[in-house]
Amino acid sequence: MRLSPALALLPLLHACTCMDQLHILYEWKQLDYQFPSEGARQQALASKEFVPQNNIPMGLEVYEDRLFVTVPRWRSGVPASLNYISLTDNSTSSPKLIPYPSWAAHAAGASRPEIVSPFRVRADRCARLWVLDSGKVASLEPNASTTYPPAIIVYDLKTDNLLRKYIIPDDQVKQDSGFANIAVEDSDCENTYAYAGDVGKGGIVVYSWEKNESWRITHHYFHPDPLACDYSVKGYNFSWTDAIFGIGISGPNADNFSTLYFHPMSSYNEFSVSTEYLRNTTVADENFNAFKVLGSRGPNAQSSVSFVDQKTGVLFYSLVNLNAVACWRTSNKDYTMKNQGRIYMNEETMVYPTDIKVDYNNSLWILSNRMPIWMYGTLDPNEVNFRVFSAPVLDAISHTACDVTPRSDILDKFVNKIKNVTNDIKSRIKGSSATCVHTSYYVPIIVLSWFIAQFIAK
Ligand SMILES: *[C@@H]1O[C@H](CO)[C@@H](O)[C@H](O)[C@H]1NC(C)=O
Ligand SMILES: *[C@@H]1O[C@H](CO)[C@@H](O)[C@H](O)[C@H]1NC(C)=O
Ligand SMILES: *[C@@H]1O[C@H](CO)[C@@H](O)[C@H](O)[C@H]1NC(C)=O
Ligand SMILES: *[C@@H]1O[C@H](CO)[C@@H](O)[C@H](O)[C@H]1NC(C)=O
Ligand SMILES: *[C@@H]1O[C@H](CO)[C@@H](O)[C@H](O)[C@H]1NC(C)=O
Ligand SMILES: *[C@@H]1O[C@H](CO)[C@@H](O)[C@H](O)[C@H]1NC(C)=O
Ligand SMILES: *[C@@H]1O[C@H](CO)[C@@H](O)[C@H](O)[C@H]1NC(C)=O
Ligand SMILES: *[C@@H]1O[C@H](CO)[C@@H](O)[C@H](O)[C@H]1NC(C)=O
Repeated sequence: MRLSPALALLPLLHACTCMDQLHILYEWKQLDYQFPSEGARQQALASKEFVPQNNIPMGLEVYEDRLFVTVPRWRSGVPASLNYISLTDNSTSSPKLIPYPSWAAHAAGASRPEIVSPFRVRADRCARLWVLDSGKVASLEPNASTTYPPAIIVYDLKTDNLLRKYIIPDDQVKQDSGFANIAVEDSDCENTYAYAGDVGKGGIVVYSWEKNESWRITHHYFHPDPLACDYSVKGYNFSWTDAIFGIGISGPNADNFSTLYFHPMSSYNEFSVSTEYLRNTTVADENFNAFKVLGSRGPNAQSSVSFVDQKTGVLFYSLVNLNAVACWRTSNKDYTMKNQGRIYMNEETMVYPTDIKVDYNNSLWILSNRMPIWMYGTLDPNEVNFRVFSAPVLDAISHTACDVTPRSDILDKFVNKIKNVTNDIKSRIKGSSATCVHTSYYVPIIVLSWFIAQFIAK
């Protein structure tokens, strides 16, 4: 019998205690928008400016009472590619999307609209919304595609005014470039840096808010691993050669620089670098050893998006083949399979976790969107296809390898000791086998083992 991908990865998720504490807050079968009127909606449908099945939510962000949702223009018929829903409106769990900052910002007139096609956005702690605009329209429909230069667009979240629109200069954009992910180093609201990952060509474009300038950093760790390009999600097998994708930024270290944790999408490894080496191209080129390999998540463990919760120092990341979200404590010096924790895994609801964020009230947010089925097959409009999950970070990581409470360290040690005893017993009875057991199941074993140990000691 062939091992299923999930079983093959059990070692990675062994620390799981089957908690899966997240709640589904919103879910959609198909996306819909809050058009100015029902007439306008009908007109958009008739003119194919709105083609419901071509709309897929890709990125999310939460700030105060708004949840932002991006809908890239991968195919035609996307009326607005950056939207929000109001978290205070609890009248429905499938709310209509409201274009941000306005319908006008998305109007495809003769010239480039204000916002073309962002995949991910980031709200910084200085109340600015950073929008990384890929600039690509209908890239999955070659007969209809258009490409504008990618841009970094910044809005004031207090007023929703456009603060800045920075077109990434031509010499920093390569032929196959694709700008999908952005991390913002905002420890200083003036001297802020944004890091935009180029998933197509393996690079990071660094933008300085203070200087209003950008430059491109390259490193071989940004490239895909040719042995990690095959994927299998819900029966769809495909090969992607995606370069740098997940970029998570830590809070400031003692030297006031942050650590950027990153991985190419087609890779099993995690890497890191101090932002000291990203803030100057010459310094980066002269210090290629400053880019570190942290370790491997193991076979089948390709990850798309990632995010660091700066308060707990936990790195959250998706596992696309496993329909799961996992975590690693950045204070943990070893990046090993054993030290990865499982946050949530579900073959129905967590198919393609596409974005992960922690808001400023310590809640974790995850969006899943079944993207491979949308891309290579067809989503069933009678099923729920898109889901937003949430939970307080401390609940999400509780009883996982990322738990930050002292209780967990003691419990981990205890559980490991007992596991050694029980594994030893098990291996004597019949070979060993890995199982995922709720911690509470250990309690009777712990008590029993303690008595046995006392007995043996005598
Ligand atoms: C945090 O939560 C409070 C209470 O729900 C809310 O008023 C506030 O806007 C939130 N802050 C942010 C930055 O999201
Ligand atoms: C929606 O929220 C309001 C205020 O928070 C509350 O009074 C109301 O009961 C909620 N409605 C539902 C359907 O949960
Ligand atoms: C481009 O081709 C796709 C698929 O063949 C079709 O659905 C779409 O309507 C076409 N778009 C235009 C603008 O011709
Ligand atoms: C930033 O630089 C761009 C050109 O690279 C320029 O168009 C824009 O006006 C500048 N913005 C500010 C706020 O200086
Ligand atoms: C897809 O990949 C999985 C896992 O590698 C494999 O078991 C399955 O046979 C493949 N399916 C097809 C149709 O190739
Ligand atoms: C870091 O920044 C703080 C506040 O700006 C400053 O007081 C401190 O000297 C800085 N530390 C280093 C190592 O530069
Ligand atoms: C980058 O670093 C080099 C070497 O330390 C230095 O000569 C150069 O001035 C720096 N460039 C910028 C733009 O700060
Ligand atoms: C459990 O066994 C492993 C290897 O056999 C060992 O490295 C580890 O220290 C043991 N743990 C405890 C708590 O005894």
